Amino acid sequence: MTQKTIQRREFLKQAAAGAAIGLVYPSARVLGSNDRVRLGIIGPGARGQELMKEFLKVSNVEFAAVADVFTRRHEEAKKLAPAAKAVDDYRRLLDLKDVDAVIVATPLHCHARHFLDTLAAGKDLYCEKTMTWSVPEAETCLEAAKKSNRVVGIGLQHQSSGNLADAKQWIKDGLVGKVTSVESWMSRNTPRGKPQWVRQIPSDCTPGNVRWDAFLNGRSRRPFDANQFINWRLFWDFSGGNVTENMVHQIAFVMRALDLPLPTSAYMSGGVYSEKDGREVPDTIAVTLDFPGDLVVTWQSTFNNKRYGIGDRILGSHGTIERLMGATDMVTGKSESGLRYYPEKDNRADGVLLEGQTKDWNHYANFVDCVRSRKEPNAHVEIGYRSAVAGHMANMSYRQKQRVTLESLGLTARR
Ligand SMILES: NC(=O)c1ccc[n+]([C@@H]2O[C@H](COP(=O)([O-])OP(=O)(O)OC[C@H]3O[C@@H](n4cnc5c(N)ncnc54)[C@H](O)[C@@H]3O)[C@@H](O)[C@H]2O)c1
Repeated sequence: MTQKTIQRREFLKQAAAGAAIGLVYPSARVLGSNDRVRLGIIGPGARGQELMKEFLKVSNVEFAAVADVFTRRHEEAKKLAPAAKAVDDYRRLLDLKDVDAVIVATPLHCHARHFLDTLAAGKDLYCEKTMTWSVPEAETCLEAAKKSNRVVGIGLQHQSSGNLADAKQWIKDGLVGKVTSVESWMSRNTPRGKPQWVRQIPSDCTPGNVRWDAFLNGRSRRPFDANQFINWRLFWDFSGGNVTENMVHQIAFVMRALDLPLPTSAYMSGGVYSEKDGREVPDTIAVTLDFPGDLVVTWQSTFNNKRYGIGDRILGSHGTIERLMGATDMVTGKSESGLRYYPEKDNRADGVLLEGQTKDWNHYANFVDCVRSRKEPNAHVEIGYRSAVAGHMANMSYRQKQRVTLESLGLTARR
């Protein structure tokens, strides 16, 4: 039995997703272009509450229900949507007839369960990135989404950026030529003694107020641990570290700009070098992804220095596309951002510098529009899947201390 088969079996055993895999989808309300869209959210924590605010800015949208295993979140979410019904078991939210679409903003290890059960309940779905915690889960979720008639959008908001539209156009117009390498990076820093990502544990985060078993979601049983519950990002059981928190946005951007399939292999090195606070996921990372068609993509990340901010450089024979998000300019000391094209004079003597002009779409309005129109959202399930698998391959390489190939997972680059 291959490793993929074993992992997939293990996941299927754990997932309460029989209905989703059996693919018996209840019929849902058909919405007209002016109908009010009624949302539910599973996991209105930090990101979930940001999402609630964003979705509430979209016209003709309301929250009918919120589901969370921590009582504090019910109170916080009700401040944003006082009429919403608050439940502690997400299945009660999925039972509600007056919920058209569900937002999943739970920790990563819960995404697949909530993804599959939402589809099984006949609801449309907006699932936060990264789409899943593992490769077998990504396979199962993609399969379920394709077989359903539900709208599925992923929380990869860079997919709605004007920068992506401009980059794709420049590449299509031949301005970049043959691309053999892409370099991406993401860097942060915090004052010493204030490690990146660590959240204070609220005093009411107690076993009485948290459904700990539901949070564990099939992970090995252990006594209540408020740090693991609040700071789940730091632990492999619940998280994929910075690769699934941040690389996923950038790799999805690069994959979409260049229309890339899955990587053929991944290698990742690094370690817990700066944030020595008991975390398991590395804070210093170098990822190398090989793609079919003579291309290598690298992504580097540190939590120890932020001079170069976040960026991507698509390096072609005829030009470079550079996307900067907050890199500090060497000369002025100001923060730079935006999309630029620089011609390679060797091959495009007449080329000129270009700046990205296209405005961003409202990512959240795009999802709501798709719920009404039944179109595919900007951040569709396919890019959710491909970016998730790329990230998981990198993390597998780091944890196994060896290069991971797509072949060893029993997958092919283009399905
Ligand atoms: N798109 C983005 O830019 C972006 C930004 C930040 C976070 N995120 C993603 O959003 C997700 C949540 O991150 P966060 O920082 O908000 O985490 P968080 O811990 O603040 O929120 C998660 C919420 O889920 C609840 N929860 C946990 N298990 C649950 C379960 N089984 N059923 C119901 N509720 C449950 C928790 O009580 C908490 O309120 C992650 O996947 C993260 O990667 C995306």
